[in-house]
Amino acid sequence: MRVSELDSLFEHLWQQYVEITPSAQSIHALLGRGQPIVNDHIALRTYALPDIGLEDLGAHFIQLGYEYAGDYDFTIKKLRARHLQHPDPAVPKVFISELKVSELSSAAQHIIGMLYQQLPPGFMRQSDALYRGRPWQLSFHDYQMLLAESEYAAWLAAFGYRANHFTVSVNALAGFNSLDDVNQTLQDAGFSLNRSGGLIKGDAYALLEQSSTLADHAQVQFSDQLASIPSCFYEFALRYPDAHGRLYQGFIEASADKIFDSTNVHHVG
Ligand code: NI
Repeated sequence: MRVSELDSLFEHLWQQYVEITPSAQSIHALLGRGQPIVNDHIALRTYALPDIGLEDLGAHFIQLGYEYAGDYDFTIKKLRARHLQHPDPAVPKVFISELKVSELSSAAQHIIGMLYQQLPPGFMRQSDALYRGRPWQLSFHDYQMLLAESEYAAWLAAFGYRANHFTVSVNALAGFNSLDDVNQTLQDAGFSLNRSGGLIKGDAYALLEQSSTLADHAQVQFSDQLASIPSCFYEFALRYPDAHGRLYQGFIEASADKIFDSTNVHHVG
């Protein structure tokens, strides 16, 4: 019964994700070639505020048998993250980050405080909280104010609770020899990849190589206007065996830092 609860949670997250990330469906077909695709991990985002922090999201997965397995810090982006793993290695890992709101300017803190005040009591304890989408009203003006300071703060304000990305396990993908091979196939089919930190983040020595598409764009209804903004992206991960011959299951801070840039409105390089 635990398995079906898990399956149901991931199915809800996937359906919600593809609604604003149509390229994920096409990529699924392109890389899967009719075979099922194994999901390496999903990523979730939140603000570090009482009752909606990283561990409040994590509690949903602890309940389903997951355990915390890694801690990460992104000083410049003002983020803290942890990843969770399930005892069954076939179950996707979960990477949860939170924005250290207290380190933002008072103007940004004020906007986020206004969003936070709109949450009903006990919001994050509700069973569907992780795929509720945006649970607050937000103006395009406030979105832009947040954007000027933190791409992450703005994305979360606009999209709320949902998977920020799913990840194709390249290890489990038939017919591809390398992440380079996957990237080339994607580019040949016209998909734009995130070049922040290079096309491939990490290497065999780090035991993890990652790449990602640039986020799709979605029309978002703000309180004052409709606007098209970056939504979600698809990630590709190739894991290498560690000294004990087991596939590395963690994440690399320097690579994850660049993967976050996939939802940026403004791209450098
Ligand atoms: Ni990821």
